[in-house]
Amino acid sequence: MIEEENNPIKSVGSVVGAQAGTDEATVFENKLRPKDFDSYIGQGEVKQNLSVFVRAARKRSETLDHTIFYGPPGLGKTTLSMILASEMGTELRITSGPALEKPGDLASILSNLKEGDFLFIDEIHRLRMPVEEILYTAMEDFAIDLVIGKGPSARTMRINVPRFTLVGATTLMSRLSNPLRDRFGHVEKLRYYEPDEIQSIIVRSAEILDIAIDEGAAKLLAKSARATPRIANRLLRRMRDFAEILHEGVITEKVVREGLASLSVDKNGLDFADQEYLRTICEKFSGGPVGLSTISAAIGEDEHTIEDMIEPFLIREGFLTRTPRGRQVTDRGFQHLGLASADDQLRLV
Ligand code: ADE
Repeated sequence: MIEEENNPIKSVGSVVGAQAGTDEATVFENKLRPKDFDSYIGQGEVKQNLSVFVRAARKRSETLDHTIFYGPPGLGKTTLSMILASEMGTELRITSGPALEKPGDLASILSNLKEGDFLFIDEIHRLRMPVEEILYTAMEDFAIDLVIGKGPSARTMRINVPRFTLVGATTLMSRLSNPLRDRFGHVEKLRYYEPDEIQSIIVRSAEILDIAIDEGAAKLLAKSARATPRIANRLLRRMRDFAEILHEGVITEKVVREGLASLSVDKNGLDFADQEYLRTICEKFSGGPVGLSTISAAIGEDEHTIEDMIEPFLIREGFLTRTPRGRQVTDRGFQHLGLASADDQLRLV
């Protein structure tokens, strides 16, 4: 159980909606988040730019321009938003596109902000259009137009909202409409991390969690973390469990090797869901091309989860390609699973 005062969510002010964060994984994730640019490892260029923009806004006593972060999940979009709010000396309120069902949901959050607050909308590409339209005037004029009543007697009422900074986060930048995209002053792409950066993050997190880890073990774990801090920290917590219960309380290379095998994480960091996804395309659809909805039905996984959580890393590793006719496993993907591709099979005949 994490003590209340250690919960960093408090230090960033009120949190609304989907990421209120009381489950164990979220509480730990928050505990391990760096609180300032200096302790944030990686994303050098983004960090450098943001710290200039923050200093410039503060010097002019202005709010920071609306900012959008895009890239695969777990790379630090929420963490950087928390750091931005903290560096600007204001509070961050968190919600997500799917949580905002009606224009009124967003209108009520906006009108309850304080001057200079940050509003973080995760999965902003999943905002419904009537909700998104409220954002346009809010972002540009710090006002919202509410329709009161129905039918011929309906009228529009304009309400001012405090000046705020919107931070949008998306895994799929191409899904954002042009009017929304054009309203962001800063557009920052987050990249996958280098192995040495992930290793440093693991060492930093191990210190915070008060668990000893060998250098070789940190390096090995880093290789299986899919270049993603969130996965690195999740694996580290599981290795801590294995080390404390099954071993002598130190994370060694042996602990990592055995621990990863127990979790069905392979040497490239693919977990059970990734392996099942690749294997299904290879075995049931001859390696593809096959459409997303068909794969979704075959493995019983939501399309958003496949697109956001599973595919980006497989594409980056060269195991998968997206073609106009659907998803296709590459030769490298087949080799990784120890399977023969359709081309290989033809060659063998
Ligand atoms: N924990 C999660 N992400 C991190 C990062 N980028 N730097 C340091 N610690 C982290």
